[in-house]
Amino acid sequence: MPSIKIASHPFSDQRPGTSGLRKKVQVFQQPHYLENFVQATFDSLPDRHGKTLVLGGDGRYHNDVAIQTILRMAAANGFAKVIVGQHGLLSTPAASCVIRKYQAFGGLILSASHNPAGINGDFGIKFNTANGGPAPEKITEAIYTRSLHLDEYFISDSRDIDLATIGQQHIDEMQVAIIDPVTDYAELMASIFDFPAIRALLCNGRFQMRFDAMHAITGPYAHEILEKRLGAELGTVINGTPQPDFAQGHPDPNLTYAHDLVEEMFAENAPDFGAASDGDGDRNMILGSRFFVTPSDSLAILAANAHLIPAYQVGLKGIARSMPTSQAADRVAEKLGIPMHETPTGWKFFGNLLDDGQTTLCGEESFGTGSDHIREKDGLWAVLFWLNILAARQQSVADIVVEHWRKFGRNFYTRYDYEAIPMEQAKQLMSGVEARLAELPGMVMAGRTITYADNFSYVDPVDQSHTTGQGLRIGFDDGARLIYRLSGTGTDGATLRVYIESYQTEESKLLDDAQQALADLIELSDSLARITEITGRDAPTVIT
Ligand code: G6P
Ligand code: ZN
Repeated sequence: MPSIKIASHPFSDQRPGTSGLRKKVQVFQQPHYLENFVQATFDSLPDRHGKTLVLGGDGRYHNDVAIQTILRMAAANGFAKVIVGQHGLLSTPAASCVIRKYQAFGGLILSASHNPAGINGDFGIKFNTANGGPAPEKITEAIYTRSLHLDEYFISDSRDIDLATIGQQHIDEMQVAIIDPVTDYAELMASIFDFPAIRALLCNGRFQMRFDAMHAITGPYAHEILEKRLGAELGTVINGTPQPDFAQGHPDPNLTYAHDLVEEMFAENAPDFGAASDGDGDRNMILGSRFFVTPSDSLAILAANAHLIPAYQVGLKGIARSMPTSQAADRVAEKLGIPMHETPTGWKFFGNLLDDGQTTLCGEESFGTGSDHIREKDGLWAVLFWLNILAARQQSVADIVVEHWRKFGRNFYTRYDYEAIPMEQAKQLMSGVEARLAELPGMVMAGRTITYADNFSYVDPVDQSHTTGQGLRIGFDDGARLIYRLSGTGTDGATLRVYIESYQTEESKLLDDAQQALADLIELSDSLARITEITGRDAPTVIT
């Protein structure tokens, strides 16, 4: 084989985080940097020989260069075949779908999710296993360990593959199959949802929708599915052409960053439905006319309406949410008589529950929702789920949400983020609260009695693995909660997240403003943890 061995040297900073290895583009552009990580990954997969790998990314800067390198390395490392998205593109959910559909050995996804892109932005790479989900820690730790010692890698010296042309090509003996990145995913969506009903809604001459792809990967998916297959008016999808620098934007679908969409959805004559997805297509934000649906409420509403969706008509096996996500979905699970799972933050914790058939729907407050159709969260899937509900119920988004609150009560919810605080202060603050956990139960604060206070830990019901230190939880007798947690994804100092939730069933209070409804708990969250005192900050950086 014309593959060559290149001498290299170990890098000390290649430990994958929750979603793979994420670094500045310039870090990845160092000689041998990407190659070392890829070789460390391949070396950690001893049974890769003769297998099929899936490869694609969100199209950000450096995606094209990295794809060619990885293809050549896959050929030199014994893979029989690589399935790669045309132009090197695959959204994260589409990559998961393709791995599962073609029963691949696994996949490499190139993305740094919602982080800005471009020459000064971020790049990332992660390995997903045969179930389509992110590699478990056992594998990511093996990759890291290997990366610390690796001093050579294998790469074919073949020429670049033509990524524009769909069909078969070869690198040495390895087959490269260039596929349309959208088709398999679009077919999966059509098998889950009632496309004719959604089409009838989108084409009824009255219903207006806007989808903001934020100049990132979901553009081609949304154009094909919403406009072409479902007949939405052209122009429904905005910012739909992926750009290597995401047009200098920050493709995180929330009220702050999805400003084009938010402006339109909160104006007079706003469309009926608005949605956005992030850089790699796994997050979603849902809006009605001048109405924001919190991700926690969205999960609960999807669950309560799942019987309207063809694929979920048979019933849900369970619902899972991350611990800081509001308890709105718990009320639905209770009513449906199905299990509710509370997991640590991070999509990977849903993997075992999904594989084991213990849950059907999963969601996180961080704008992630998904189901057992793949093993990643899925932005467009959530949008189609909402469209299917709207088509079946013929009501507005706001009416559906308010009706849900009337039936189940409302979990008022807000998250306060204190970004870039010195690590020392963050630790002092967290250990201060932790030291008080034992004395809190029974105390009355913000007019409520504390019923429990703990540092959340989780035993995976499938493999019994134990995860500790996942956030400080304080629960009250009326269903309210205060949660303190340090972000696992921040890059600058520490980010303290405070999640504040209350539960309201009184009809006259259901439509109150969340910040006002939560005012007493918000005040308590500061005094209890001495946030202002320790950090000197009198306000959070971001409120969502
Ligand atoms: C990533 C993961 C999500 C997780 C989020 C938490 O986006 O994919 O599953 O919810 O990180 O971020 P945080 O900054 O709160 O640790
Ligand atoms: Zn993402």
